[in-house]
Amino acid sequence: MKNFVIAIDGPAGSGKSTISRLVAKKLNFLYVDTGAMYRALTLKAMKKNIPFQNKEKLIDMAKNTEIELYDEDGKFKVIMDGEDVSEEIRKEEVSKNTSYIASILEIRKILWEMQRKFREKYNVVMEGRDIGSKVFPDAQIKIYLDASIEERVKRRYSQLKEMGIEESIEKIKKEMMERDQKDKNREIAPLIKGDDYYYIDTTNLTIDEVVETVISIYKNIKDRL
Ligand code: DC
Repeated sequence: MKNFVIAIDGPAGSGKSTISRLVAKKLNFLYVDTGAMYRALTLKAMKKNIPFQNKEKLIDMAKNTEIELYDEDGKFKVIMDGEDVSEEIRKEEVSKNTSYIASILEIRKILWEMQRKFREKYNVVMEGRDIGSKVFPDAQIKIYLDASIEERVKRRYSQLKEMGIEESIEKIKKEMMERDQKDKNREIAPLIKGDDYYYIDTTNLTIDEVVETVISIYKNIKDRL
């Protein structure tokens, strides 16, 4: 039987990273943040001054990039071509530019291959936008995490504040809505909630409650397999 996959998709700020990591830890599964891979390639293009319109160069760059992901001592590490880029990829300019990289099918195909390899060795909790629809359409569990825009903005605000970055609520909201719009409406691998997804609205739930919900779905499904 194939290794187990819990696919966790949803918009920015829905709690995907927090929940996915905790669930992976509880079940002793590998945690994979696919957004970090799109971010890493975006950062590399920015550093190399490759224009986002130059698809051919970007595809070539992606083919020649090594990305390693580790979840070590409670820290998620992203190593690109041997360099630790874990913090740099979270910067706002990178967030904004990631949609260019994410809209190139050839680049997605390269990343899909990398993402599918994790399942060859491990049971995984993988988070992103297209995990249940494109990466693992046969995932044993597909979860769509969501929350109201106000709640997602509030979470992002606190997260930035913790990082020492002061951003206005209005600006965060505007950028988040733009990103939602792009993620949900792009032609290639948009964020969608298929009929085979479990939908969890996390707006009024605690982290523990969401984790417990996912774990109980897992136990249920596992007993039936
Ligand atoms: O989850 P995140 O905010 O780190 O993702 C960064 C961007 O990457 C997001 O705007 C959409 C894109 N992305 C994607 O297109 N597909 C994925 N599986 C994960 C992220």
